[in-house]
Amino acid sequence: MSERIEVDLGASDADITDPDSYTNGVPYATFQRLREQDPVSWWDEHDGGKGFWAVTRYDDLLDVSRRVEAFSSAQGITLEEIEGEDFHARRNMLEYDPPEHTRYRRLVSKPFSRREVYAYEQAIRLLARNVVDEALAGPSTFDFVEHVAKQLPMRMLGRLLGVPDDDGPWLVERGDALLGNLDPEFTAHPVGLTDTDEFSHIPFRSPAALDLYQYAERQAEQRRAHPTDDVITRLLAPTIDGEQLTEREFKNFFVLLVSAGNDTTRYTMTAGMKALIEHPEQLAELRDSIGRDPGLMDSAVEEILRWGTVTMHFRRTAVQDVELRGRRIKVGDKVVIWFVSADYDGAQFPEPYHFDIHRTPNEHVAFGRMSPHLCLGAQLARMELKVLFEELLPKLSDAQLAGRPDRLRSNFIGGMKRLPVRVSLA
Ligand code: HEM
Repeated sequence: MSERIEVDLGASDADITDPDSYTNGVPYATFQRLREQDPVSWWDEHDGGKGFWAVTRYDDLLDVSRRVEAFSSAQGITLEEIEGEDFHARRNMLEYDPPEHTRYRRLVSKPFSRREVYAYEQAIRLLARNVVDEALAGPSTFDFVEHVAKQLPMRMLGRLLGVPDDDGPWLVERGDALLGNLDPEFTAHPVGLTDTDEFSHIPFRSPAALDLYQYAERQAEQRRAHPTDDVITRLLAPTIDGEQLTEREFKNFFVLLVSAGNDTTRYTMTAGMKALIEHPEQLAELRDSIGRDPGLMDSAVEEILRWGTVTMHFRRTAVQDVELRGRRIKVGDKVVIWFVSADYDGAQFPEPYHFDIHRTPNEHVAFGRMSPHLCLGAQLARMELKVLFEELLPKLSDAQLAGRPDRLRSNFIGGMKRLPVRVSLA
């Protein structure tokens, strides 16, 4: 049977290190060629980086994720090479190995557990309903990112942190500057295009992180004086055995939440809306299943996560000499695991370029897999996606694309900055 291809596969000879290679969409054809012909390939970097191994097959990605004793996260998790004091100052929980990582994760994980997230469901639903109603009250053609996908994660994060609603847009703008640190639209200091050496000691080499540090300090002061039941208060409180985040750990975790917790969910919602518009029969089926077959929304959310795979890669560093697919990887080599390639690996996903809300099983790696760093916000992100589409779809009789999307300039985060849509109300 021939494969159904429902996504633009892009160039087959793209430079996967170049942020501009992603501005027209992911170069899926390049990743497919790599998976087939050179699954663990060596890439030089043009910005002074020492080069890296690109791991593109699903099975190999799981292997690297699982083998923390050979592939360490504790020397940085993006392509950027950060050393000494700079690294220690800006290090977040993604950049530790067990057992230090285990301690850190234990201190922050409770508010993100499945149980706690289920307790927020009603709050998320009310927020989603407001977002949808506000968007649909305006003109029938609008930017889905600005009016919908940006709004729900922003309002939910504000609720979780217990900060004023009015601070939301500012927090999001700062978060955009961090994860969009290669895109001149999101930052005045795009890494690689301007000199960012003076910011090498702060997360994402971005001055936006300094603003977030100050904001986090102010919030911490207020919560120490007036504790509440929000996530900031809980992160600052010692556990029953007296363990506590240090001030620096707290601030770096705060920065991670504002970046990792916002943009990724927004970009996934946008990828989902675009895919549903491009598959109207699946949009209609999903809409008609709401209230009758909750299982279909669950599998649709997983397919949207796979289809979007917004965090395109993370890096590890070899701390042992290892062989992978016949390649000799040496201690100190950077090893980059490409989630965006693994999620379209035909050996794991039949017809990978076919969007299918019924796809089961769907063991995608959009949140990581087999790694101690498995996304902490996975349950929250899933819940936001589910509730958003449950609130939105029944209100639409039709939805169309009203223009081309604008994509983020990044080799790290795959996202649409704007998605013009035209809707008719049910
Ligand atoms: C659809 C949305 C999201 C995607 C695609 C995503 C993706 C990821 C990925 C790929 C990882 C690393 C996995 C690994 O290395 O194996 C990760 C880790 C993480 N994510 Fe998410 N994420 C999303 C939403 C969120 C949200 C909503 C939050 C918090 C509110 C969050 C917080 C975190 C944190 C704190 C980590 C680090 C966990 C650790 O080091 O133990 N993420 N995420």
